Amino acid sequence: MFSVQTAASAAYIVAALLFILALAGLSKHETSKAGNNFGIVGMAVALAATITLAVHHGIGTLGLGLLIGATVVGAAIGLWRAKVVEMTGMPELIALLHSFVGLAAVLVGWNGYLHVEAHPHGEDAVKMAAEGMFGIHSAEVFIGVFIGAVTFTGSIVANLKLSARMKSAPLMLPGKNLLNVGALLAFAALTVWFCIEPNLWLLVAVTVLALALGWHLVASIGGGDMPVVVSMLNSYSGWAAAASGFLLSNDLLIITGALVGSSGAYLSYIMCKAMNRSFISVIAGGFGIEAGPSDDKDYGEHREITAEGVAELLGSADSVIITPGYGMAVAQAQYGVADLTRKLRERGVNVRFGIHPVAGRLPGHMNVLLAEAKVPYDIVLEMDEINEDFDDTSVVLVIGANDTVNPAAAEDPSSPIAGMPVLTVWEADNVIVFKRSMASGYAGVQNPLFFRQNSAMLFGDAKDRVEDILHAL
Ligand code: TAP
Repeated sequence: MFSVQTAASAAYIVAALLFILALAGLSKHETSKAGNNFGIVGMAVALAATITLAVHHGIGTLGLGLLIGATVVGAAIGLWRAKVVEMTGMPELIALLHSFVGLAAVLVGWNGYLHVEAHPHGEDAVKMAAEGMFGIHSAEVFIGVFIGAVTFTGSIVANLKLSARMKSAPLMLPGKNLLNVGALLAFAALTVWFCIEPNLWLLVAVTVLALALGWHLVASIGGGDMPVVVSMLNSYSGWAAAASGFLLSNDLLIITGALVGSSGAYLSYIMCKAMNRSFISVIAGGFGIEAGPSDDKDYGEHREITAEGVAELLGSADSVIITPGYGMAVAQAQYGVADLTRKLRERGVNVRFGIHPVAGRLPGHMNVLLAEAKVPYDIVLEMDEINEDFDDTSVVLVIGANDTVNPAAAEDPSSPIAGMPVLTVWEADNVIVFKRSMASGYAGVQNPLFFRQNSAMLFGDAKDRVEDILHAL
């Protein structure tokens, strides 16, 4: 027989499937818009089912009014922020959104305690005790509050660092790793205690402990490494939501939380691997001591080239690979780069892009910029897909990239970035490096590429220089 409860469960399954399709869609350019739409529809279905269920359970007119009011205000703020946010401001916005998930998990946990553990002779508590679920409920409350509070303050610190409202240098308290491990051990001990003998003060203690741990964990990480931290917090926020799902007996929240938790963890893993850094040290918050100033080894002389010289080279090239980096984003050169690509392709030149997994400052940074400038997807290739082809290429244009094309990573075991996979641009016949000076990149290490025989530097703002080349062509 039809019941509101069954209909809501069915709607939750549909929403969960739509979220899985959203994640699958977002993993490729071609399907990313569809992925986004699946996510939007899934969330609409989930909200409608949740509101219907709440009405069915009799939340009353005031409750319904509050629920709708909160949804409308939240949606309006979300739409406004998404509209005005700059691409470069995306990580800090995401960090702020994660803090809300963390806060929600804390509130849900506290609410769970006030309903059940605070009234051991109440209806809910007695029922749970009869089913042998009382201890499990207490563990869910405690763990949910802990993960939520860590996510809450961690995300706030990430947001403050990314928006430069807090010093980006890592906080180096003496024995910082011991503090983190100590906090985790204290949490484990408090959890056992709370499950045996739940009381308000233990809940207050774990909340304060987790708020402090979240703050310390992220404050100990350098501002430049925040993108990895943000994807890690994304993962924490997923687990916090899953913990709330257990408490509220909401399957959709459990599934969604697990999807977010595992995809965030996987993304952090991919980013760490692409930077050749250890995932464990990120989790432990021991990450991101920024590299020191560049070394003073003698790399020889670099050679300069003019925009006209580059235009001439491109005029006689039959294959060109463009490897963009953070500088292209800073200069907003993607539109000029797209025009240049179009012009060269009209002349029959085979133009492709090689994208390093951590080029720029956030995952997919370059892909989004190039898509924005309408560069066709099929010529934008991942590092692994294009690395074999450099030795067959006439000209490589390195536009505002540095660490991601540094041969020292592959050739110098003493380099701070040794072992980081890089785009092997130096194998091409000619390499043109667009940047404003000889300054080092994000990792703070010198790049021997600039001094190679087949390399030439085109100094200046990448956008201006690309336009000069377009004129010369
Ligand atoms: P970087 O190594 O950061 O180098 C960017 C280069 O762009 C700089 O050397 C800079 O040189 C140049 N530049 C800046 N503004 C410019 C402008 N207006 N016009 C022309 N050039 C300009 O970039 P990359 O190769 O993209 O590497 C990314 C780095 O970020 C890696 O070390 C990576 O590990 C790190 N990172 C990435 C992520 C993600 S997820 N993408 C997350 C955390 C860390 P000048 O100052 O001389 O112009």
